[in-house]
Amino acid sequence: MTKKTFPLTKERLREIEKRFPTPFYLYDEGAIRKTARRFRAAFSILPAYKEHFAVKALPNPAILRILAGEGLGADCSSLAELVLAERAGLRGEDIMFTSNETPSAEFRKARELGAVINLDDITHIAFLQKAAGLPGLLSFRYNPGPLKAGNAIIGKPEEAKYGLTRPQILEGFKMIKEAGVKRFALHTMVASNELNINYHIETARILFTLAVEILEKTGARLEFVNLGGGLGIPYRPEDDAPDLEKMCAGIREQYDAIIVPAGLDPLGIRTEYGRPITGPAGWLVAKAIHRKDIYRRYIGLNACMADLMRPALYGAYHHITIPGKEGAPLQSPCDVVGSLCENNDKFAVQRELPAIDVGESDGDFVVIHDAGAHGRAMGFNYNGKLRCGELLLREDGDITQIRRPETLEDYFATLEGVWD
Ligand code: LLP
Repeated sequence: MTKKTFPLTKERLREIEKRFPTPFYLYDEGAIRKTARRFRAAFSILPAYKEHFAVKALPNPAILRILAGEGLGADCSSLAELVLAERAGLRGEDIMFTSNETPSAEFRKARELGAVINLDDITHIAFLQKAAGLPGLLSFRYNPGPLKAGNAIIGKPEEAKYGLTRPQILEGFKMIKEAGVKRFALHTMVASNELNINYHIETARILFTLAVEILEKTGARLEFVNLGGGLGIPYRPEDDAPDLEKMCAGIREQYDAIIVPAGLDPLGIRTEYGRPITGPAGWLVAKAIHRKDIYRRYIGLNACMADLMRPALYGAYHHITIPGKEGAPLQSPCDVVGSLCENNDKFAVQRELPAIDVGESDGDFVVIHDAGAHGRAMGFNYNGKLRCGELLLREDGDITQIRRPETLEDYFATLEGVWD
């Protein structure tokens, strides 16, 4: 069981909306810092641990700076994310660059920053060499194929476009060694929102086993392995958060059984979690503006799936609460919907909620939980919808706007030569 909380009262929201009208994302700095510390502490039983926050989950430099202050690096997948990490003050090996189908300009930027480049294919060795030259340290992304099951979000590894096969990994290390690369690392990312800690322990076991094989067959001694992201969060109140300390103890056991006897100790451990770091510390705050009773009851919000597409895209559950009505009796189920001309624009389907007041000024606030990762980041502009802004609840209780809402001018900014 996980208690779903929200850090502001209805009265505080009424104050805040005078300056920052809904909808907006709210992130809790204190909660993010606490989580970052918890991860570092739990993984401290493993050598040279570093978490590279997956920028794609919450690409805002204000958040990256907070995380950098807690000793976290960044995992980037594109040019924009590299620039964001740079603007947040990160440089060099604090940045991992895990991309796929990568354009040469992105490799050049990663090289310029001194980021750890994680190659997604064996042909990318030559591509990178031509685009930006080979760095002294290189990592490969491993795709374990049938060894791992995957899930609906990330797909089955066997059918996924990412990474190199085992024979290619061995060949790849031989090739980069011959080309003069001196430092080596290995990465995989095979799960998404996986709550079962055994899955992650097993991933570590697979990587450790391969690290030993790489040493034996190619002579390349890995400096670190990156276990990727994909650790789940309890979106549903009935779910339990993964036991982080137990998971780390399990990974340590595998390390002691595989890495230590092979003489590979110390082997650094890295992760690139996004969702568990900021997911539960972010909420989409909207307002109920319409109620409609036809074959079902619909509660219409002033936000839509252009602000948060996870429920529509994956059928993902996001908990919903109504500030000020936490203990109120639940009514018969309703669908909580946005204003897009898409029938799947639903934040919740047949959800039991308290009686909801509607109206642009005095309607109820509707808080959508666990939206701090892969939330605003996945927003889009279909139907000319303007993406909402982002607020940060500081540790001293102040609210800072860290991204303003989009305007019509933003939406039209790329049109050229078509106006009268
Ligand atoms: N590293 C790599 C290479 C990734 O591709 C991802 C996510 C992460 C790290 C971070 O994973 P996390 O810890 O946040 O689960 N849009 C989906 C998630 C897509 C995952 C893509 N990769 C969602 O909303 O659930």
